[in-house]
Amino acid sequence: MNRTPIIAGNWKMYKGGAAGVELARDVVRACGDLAGVTVVLSPPFTALAAVVHAVAGSRVEVAGQNLHPKAEGAFTGEVSAPMLLDAGCKWVIIGHSERRQLFGETDQGVREKTAAAMAAGLRPIVCVGETLAEREAGRTLEVVSRQLDAFVSVLAERPGFGTIAYEPVWAIGTGKVAGPEQAQEVHQALRQRLSSTDAKLAHVTHILYGGSVKPDNASGLLSCPDVDGALVGGASLDAGSFAKIVEASPSRV
Ligand code: 13P
Repeated sequence: MNRTPIIAGNWKMYKGGAAGVELARDVVRACGDLAGVTVVLSPPFTALAAVVHAVAGSRVEVAGQNLHPKAEGAFTGEVSAPMLLDAGCKWVIIGHSERRQLFGETDQGVREKTAAAMAAGLRPIVCVGETLAEREAGRTLEVVSRQLDAFVSVLAERPGFGTIAYEPVWAIGTGKVAGPEQAQEVHQALRQRLSSTDAKLAHVTHILYGGSVKPDNASGLLSCPDVDGALVGGASLDAGSFAKIVEASPSRV
C-alpha cells in the first residue's frame, strides 16, 4: 500500500508571531517543494494565519493544535473547525496526550472533536498512546485500542481522510524514543483494529509515530511497514532538523 508519508511538526506553545513566520519560511526553503511527502506545520493559534501566508505557494500545509466541537457559540477562549478552515488550516491535531493529561480531555471529547473536524472538512490527526505505568503493566495495546475505539466509527465515515498518531506518553519530550520494533508492534495492532471495523479503512489510514523523533532515529522508525509518517515536537522547532526528518521519509530516500 502506498500511503504517502506525512511529516507533521507540532510546535506546541512555542514560536508564535514573528518567530513562527521565520520558522515556517525556513521550513519552506528547506523542504517546501519536496514531492512524495506531505509536510504539515502546527503553530499556536495566534500564528496560524501568518504561517498560512508564509507557506502559500509551497506544498507545506497547516494544522491547528486543538478545536472546540461546536461551530460557534459562547465558549470563551475556544476555536472551532470552521474557524481553523477559515484561517487556512487543512488539518487539526486532536487528543494530544498533553491535552488529555493537562486539560482533562476524555475519549468521548476526542470523539466529538474528531466528528466536528471531519464534518467541517478538516483532516484530524487523532493521538493515542500509553503512559509509562500502563506500558510497564503490559496494558499498552488495551489502552490504545480503547482510545481508538472511541473515534474509529467517525474515521470510517470517510476512510483515509482522518489520520492517527501513536504517541507513547513516556517518549514525548523525554528523548526516550520507542524503538522501531516497539513502534511497529503498536502500529500493526492499531491497523488490525481498524481492519476489524473496515478493511479499506485499515488500508488507507495513515498512522504516524510521535515521541522524540529526531534526525538520527527517523529513518529507522519511518521504514517500519505500518509507520506512515511522524508527528514531531521538539525537532520541528528547528528547520534544519525538521527537514532532515522529512528527507528521511521512505519515498524520499
Ligand atoms: P517530542 O518530539 O518533543 O517528543 O514531542 C512529540 C509530540 O508530542 C508531538 O506531538
